[in-house]
Amino acid sequence: MNDDVAFGAVLDRVAELLHRHIGLRCESALYSRLRRAVRDEAAAHGVDVEGYLAMLTPGSPVMQRLQNRITVQETAFFRHPEQFETLARHILPTLRPPVRIWSAACSNGQEPYSLAMLLDESGVDGSVIATDLSTSAVQRAAEGRYSSRELTGLSPERIARYLTRTGQSWEVNRAISDRVTVFRHNLLDPIPERVKSCQVVFCRNVLIYFSPQHAKIFLDRLADAMQRRVWLFLSSTETIWQVSGRYEAVRINEGFVHRNREAGTPAAGPPARPPAMPENRRFTGRKVTARTPVPAAPPAPPRPPDHAEQAALAARVGQEALSAGDCGSAVVEFRKWAYLTPDDVMAHVHLGLALEAAGERSSARRAYSVARQVLVTVDPAHVEGAMEGFAVDELARFLHGKNQECEK
Ligand SMILES: C[S@@+](CC[C@H](N)C(=O)[O-])C[C@H]1O[C@@H](n2cnc3c(N)ncnc32)[C@H](O)[C@@H]1O
Repeated sequence: MNDDVAFGAVLDRVAELLHRHIGLRCESALYSRLRRAVRDEAAAHGVDVEGYLAMLTPGSPVMQRLQNRITVQETAFFRHPEQFETLARHILPTLRPPVRIWSAACSNGQEPYSLAMLLDESGVDGSVIATDLSTSAVQRAAEGRYSSRELTGLSPERIARYLTRTGQSWEVNRAISDRVTVFRHNLLDPIPERVKSCQVVFCRNVLIYFSPQHAKIFLDRLADAMQRRVWLFLSSTETIWQVSGRYEAVRINEGFVHRNREAGTPAAGPPARPPAMPENRRFTGRKVTARTPVPAAPPAPPRPPDHAEQAALAARVGQEALSAGDCGSAVVEFRKWAYLTPDDVMAHVHLGLALEAAGERSSARRAYSVARQVLVTVDPAHVEGAMEGFAVDELARFLHGKNQECEK
């Protein structure tokens, strides 16, 4: 076996381990990061890559280091601000205090501290449990110390009220940090006892990295474990309805919040049909806005649509949106398409085009890069038919040009 082939085989094994233990979907975009991480980590441990693979046992510090390195910690204070507004205006007033919130996959802590600030501003007695897989993220979250650059999302008023400058950084004040408890938790492990009484769960921008079967394991387990019906916030690019029928979607203003159908007991019958979302996102020219929570569509048909059907639907709805000039909705649908079929190069191409049309050039550049990476992994004989008239090398040139344009 030559060195490249042997290294490739080790990478495949490492990707498989990460997939099994932390749910990570090692699609092509992640492979280059994984390749670098495995090389560096093997060198840091003074072994070759096969020796390193042998050290990657579940729960070992070596495995944890790799997980810390490979997970993406991108976050911000009050990220997706409309969700915080929904929580403050429509949900907190309905909850009996003390309110308990779980920030599942809290990254470096900006999300749980934003939630604690919101509780404070709303005058609500409550606390936040923050967990993450990465021990370095957990440590940073527990410290609650941020650089000026990391304060993005905080208004000057909030900075003045909730943080104190200490040298080059800013520290979250005790009144806020005392409301937050942080510990390490892998979302694929059983739900921790401490979070089972929470009324609200923020689990945003993490399931997007999971394979659908792992997302389902987590979501079903959450529905089984919680002592009451919870309000579950995902990010707008994460859809629950392809993977778990245990929740209903509640539309509030222009977003969705999810609720487990019954606390702690599996829902009877087949998984439910997707809520009304796809129809609402088809462009009838009418903007759907609800001021109060509206129950989702009734439970449904015997067989949920499979991933390929859902991907095809998202592709079609996205294209309709784009032709109707609604780039934001097109982006949402194409993200769904790319999420469901990550190896479909055209999903990433369309996502890039929609992002570009929406003026999000750096995200568009990322989508084009993913498309290029997918393109080099596919067998041209299998995919040219699906590439809307492009030949592989033509599409590669097109994507290269697009990447450069978006860099300017
Ligand atoms: C992109 S950040 C999202 C942070 C925050 N929720 C937000 O929306 O801003 C994703 C986080 O998920 C964590 N993560 C990835 N896989 C996980 C797993 N299996 N269990 C728990 N956390 C995980 C990563 O360590 C990372 O901090």
